[in-house]
Amino acid sequence: MTITDLAVLPGMLAVTWTDGTLTRYPTIWLRDNCPSGLHPQTQERTLDLLSLDHSPELVAAERSGPHIGLRYADGHLSTMPVAFLDAHRPGMAAADAAALPATLWRADLGAAGIPRHGARAILADDAALHAWLADTAAFGLSIVEGLDDRVSAGTDIAGRIGFLRRTNFGTTFEVVSKPDPNNLAYTSVALPLHTDLPNQEVPPGYQFLHCLANEAQGGGSVFADGFAIAADLRAGDPEAFRLLSEIAIPFRFHDEGTDISVRQPVLTLDGKGDLIEVRFNAHIAGVFDMPSDQMPAYYGAYRAFMARTRDPAYRLTLKLKAGEMVVFDNRRVLHGREAFDPSTGHRHLHGCYVDRGEFASRLRVLARGRTEAAAA
Ligand code: OGA
Ligand code: ZN
Repeated sequence: MTITDLAVLPGMLAVTWTDGTLTRYPTIWLRDNCPSGLHPQTQERTLDLLSLDHSPELVAAERSGPHIGLRYADGHLSTMPVAFLDAHRPGMAAADAAALPATLWRADLGAAGIPRHGARAILADDAALHAWLADTAAFGLSIVEGLDDRVSAGTDIAGRIGFLRRTNFGTTFEVVSKPDPNNLAYTSVALPLHTDLPNQEVPPGYQFLHCLANEAQGGGSVFADGFAIAADLRAGDPEAFRLLSEIAIPFRFHDEGTDISVRQPVLTLDGKGDLIEVRFNAHIAGVFDMPSDQMPAYYGAYRAFMARTRDPAYRLTLKLKAGEMVVFDNRRVLHGREAFDPSTGHRHLHGCYVDRGEFASRLRVLARGRTEAAAA
């Protein structure tokens, strides 16, 4: 957008835009963001904020093409791009190519409604990678199909996004029924809907489960959108939602070599009150330790959330086939599986995680490439 008027006011610059909106930029902000304060190569800030007055005095402002020139009482001259001022209006979050709104889903999405993308295209083509990541960000869930029949085929796809997240289960993990399991996942029992590793300070972001074999009887996969469950709980039982977002509970995993534990609420909200994370795993929830007079109400809220995870209105079930990989935001979408009978056939999933920050970074870099292509 272009500027129709500039006015120097005490302690601020007032900008009127062509759509009639007015934006006020405090002079301390203008000086803090003067391009001369950035390292020319890295674009990181080198300016020392404390070298400025708290309210630098602006004496003149004028437009010159795509920039505005600012002159300060101490003699400093700034050349600020109009596009920068437009993109960073105080009080408005700057556009973020990774901040894709969540499309909440329930059982009526149907397993057939889960976005599907082809492995070959994701590996070969950045536009296909971008389309897959955008769908996975919106739904919190997607299926990649056509993977090669080798253990590293899933990590090859995950590696297109960024670094794999290493945990106490390794950089990758084999979901197979094992003789001496340290985790219920490594048995053949049913796993009720859960998020993985809520006992970690930061639970893993996106989870990848590449199906190499699923020949046993049973072993279907179950998913539910934790954000949809929480949104409905917030609307229908706001007190339960409040308790789940305000009261921290312990989560703990321990085996011979580890004892990893945190205290966090089931629902984490951001500073604006929006839900950003679900931690729900009945198997590794620790011993609740809120005061006893809060316990009955807390159990009521926790059971209300848990009951929704059992409600068919939220659940999608499907049986993964060899060559398919399910990908989901482990801090949003709950996953589980039906029991299977290992005597009837082999079942083998190969798993890994990529954190949300890596995922968002790849989305931004891919969007950057697209903006440049569109501008050329
Ligand atoms: C897990 C898990 C699901 C499955 O390994 O954490 O949830 O389908 N596995 O076996
Ligand atoms: Zn799991």
